[in-house]
Amino acid sequence: MSWLLSNNGLLLLASLFVCVYIYFYSFVRFELAKTEPTINPEQSISQEENSQIPSQNKFNVFDHVCKIPRVDPFSPDVMAIFEPPKPKTCTDQPGLFTVRYNKQQKLYLLRFNKSLFVKLFPSVTHYACVFYEIVSGPSDKPIWNKGSPFTCSNRIVPRSIQGIVVECFELGNKSRILQRDAFSFVQHLVGRNEANDEKRSRAYPSVIMLGIDSMSQMNFQRTMPMTAKFVRQTGWSDMLGYNGLFNNGFKNMFDLLSGGSPQLWEQHCDVKRLGCLDTITFLWNHFHNSGYLTAYAEDSLSLAFTRKPVDYYLYPILKVFKEIMEREGRGQGESDYCLGRRESFHYVFESCLQLVQRFMNETPKPLFGLYWTKTFSHEDFSAAARVDRNFVRYLELYREHGLFDKAVVILFSLHGQRKGPLMRLASGFLEERLPMLHIYLPPWYRKQYPDVRNALEVNRRRLCSTYDLHLTIKNLLTQVHPNLEFEVVCNSCMSLLYIIPENRSCAGANIPEWICSCEPCRRVPNTELMRTWAKLIVFRINQYLARKKLIRYCSHLKFEHLITVDHQELYNSEGQIVKPADGIQRYRIKFITQPNGVFLGNIFINSQNNIADVPYHRITRFNTHSKCVDGSINNNLCVCR
Ligand SMILES: *[C@@H]1O[C@H](CO)[C@@H](O)[C@H](O)[C@H]1NC(C)=O
Ligand SMILES: *[C@@H]1O[C@H](CO)[C@@H](O)[C@H](O)[C@H]1NC(C)=O
Ligand SMILES: *[C@@H]1O[C@H](CO)[C@@H](O)[C@H](O)[C@H]1NC(C)=O
Repeated sequence: MSWLLSNNGLLLLASLFVCVYIYFYSFVRFELAKTEPTINPEQSISQEENSQIPSQNKFNVFDHVCKIPRVDPFSPDVMAIFEPPKPKTCTDQPGLFTVRYNKQQKLYLLRFNKSLFVKLFPSVTHYACVFYEIVSGPSDKPIWNKGSPFTCSNRIVPRSIQGIVVECFELGNKSRILQRDAFSFVQHLVGRNEANDEKRSRAYPSVIMLGIDSMSQMNFQRTMPMTAKFVRQTGWSDMLGYNGLFNNGFKNMFDLLSGGSPQLWEQHCDVKRLGCLDTITFLWNHFHNSGYLTAYAEDSLSLAFTRKPVDYYLYPILKVFKEIMEREGRGQGESDYCLGRRESFHYVFESCLQLVQRFMNETPKPLFGLYWTKTFSHEDFSAAARVDRNFVRYLELYREHGLFDKAVVILFSLHGQRKGPLMRLASGFLEERLPMLHIYLPPWYRKQYPDVRNALEVNRRRLCSTYDLHLTIKNLLTQVHPNLEFEVVCNSCMSLLYIIPENRSCAGANIPEWICSCEPCRRVPNTELMRTWAKLIVFRINQYLARKKLIRYCSHLKFEHLITVDHQELYNSEGQIVKPADGIQRYRIKFITQPNGVFLGNIFINSQNNIADVPYHRITRFNTHSKCVDGSINNNLCVCR
């Protein structure tokens, strides 16, 4: 070790690291907009009031075809149930080990803090550490080697090592683990051609996508106000007409990355089958082919690959961490919020930080990275408030390392909340359907492509979906390299880098009717009358199946219980709610049947409160589609025997 420490350069680096470290941990006040002025939210509202459309501050999207009302994230009914969550930390104990990087040698160093050890464990005099090194095994799968215990001290991390778990224990009693910690490393890849990096990184924008699961536009403003403030700075656009596609994590992620729904790939292979995903072209493949380094990290599995799809693939490493730390039932286990002594999302953001430091700050290379977090936002709508400060801290660190000077950054979700108390509010309908999407263009890019900047400004208030986001990201490549050809997987998607036409409909945007927010609804309380309506829909489905002679294949359905009811609202050209001209009120009812069906159906009610119609083609079933019958309506309605 002495050869390393005697190096002056390293000492300098060491003090630099300590500074960054202190800066990071002593952060209390957030100075946003060090380089660029913050937009005052009041200011942007008054700008909106000046615009030609009178109802802009009442609507996110307002044209002849699509009207999406603006929902106040802080309305009294939400604030009555929004309780800032109690802090939840995985440990109060400071870390005995910290990571530092030596730029010259391109090596990570794991540092042991002996004085801290003495402070934490004054009675322990004989102790040792054991390192579990995670390396690439057969077919790139991470595997671990357990080293033999030795003195706890600094340790150089060879480049072949993707992660380390370290355990310090008492020598006299090996089952007394004093501290256990885990680190992953974005290592320099050996044997990559770096000759054109400098040139390439000037033309091709790096793309970093940061995702938070189950986060609506409204809930983002409500639970993550500091992060929301960060993304109001110059260069960011919030896409107010961004509509989710599914309420299924796998399908959404699949669509974002492939640009087409899983059904589209079905003739290719069964996407649920292990190994199938390895053969499909995803966003990162295009970036890889254009000379980018690629990364994919998530704290909870959404797509299962058997081979490494990107240069830096974090999830399997986290899985190995878990295996090592939780073997013999020694781990925390009960929730996935924590992994070892850290919050799970921390590993994801830290990995992004390492990538940005290594390849954006220290050596140039265009990057494509997708960083997806789920463990802090998924279960409870208010839980994200817990990590808001932490999230902004990471964004600040990314900024210090030049991310926002160079990269296009996309902060996104794929759908809103699907369960819990928000679903009972009048805004529940839109809470489900309007995920957040914020797109950042770096200064050089805005200068080089002023039209893109304008397009985003217009498109903020146009209907768009995850398919469009997919195409937009590919478009970032074709802009530099117009001859690049992609297989067209989605005919109706549009790149957000060009102005999306007004009057775009959900059908035109390939957004399924049931999740479309263009015909907005207000959630209403469940009543006995509505239960009767749901029963009637079930009756009609059974009738339909009988008429089509499908009873042999399909189960007879029994109504089980009502989930939600939404009442459709109609607006005039001034944006005021009006009564339907034909006197027919439209409701959407979501319910569960026996056996095993989750349905969303429409019901039309006339002015005498009688049922006018139950359109079969507007009934959607959510759980698995039926293979025992043909035809899309049949498929949808039939629960195979
Ligand atoms: C589309 O929008 C324009 C206004 O910009 C309107 O005049 C026209 O009727 C709309 N088209 C449809 C099909 O609604
Ligand atoms: C070691 O831990 C102590 C706290 O006991 C802390 O003050 C010090 O900065 C740490 N040293 C390093 C190098 O992190
Ligand atoms: C060894 O450590 C474990 C865990 O801390 C403890 O339960 C056990 O009593 C210890 N055994 C002895 C002999 O001190």
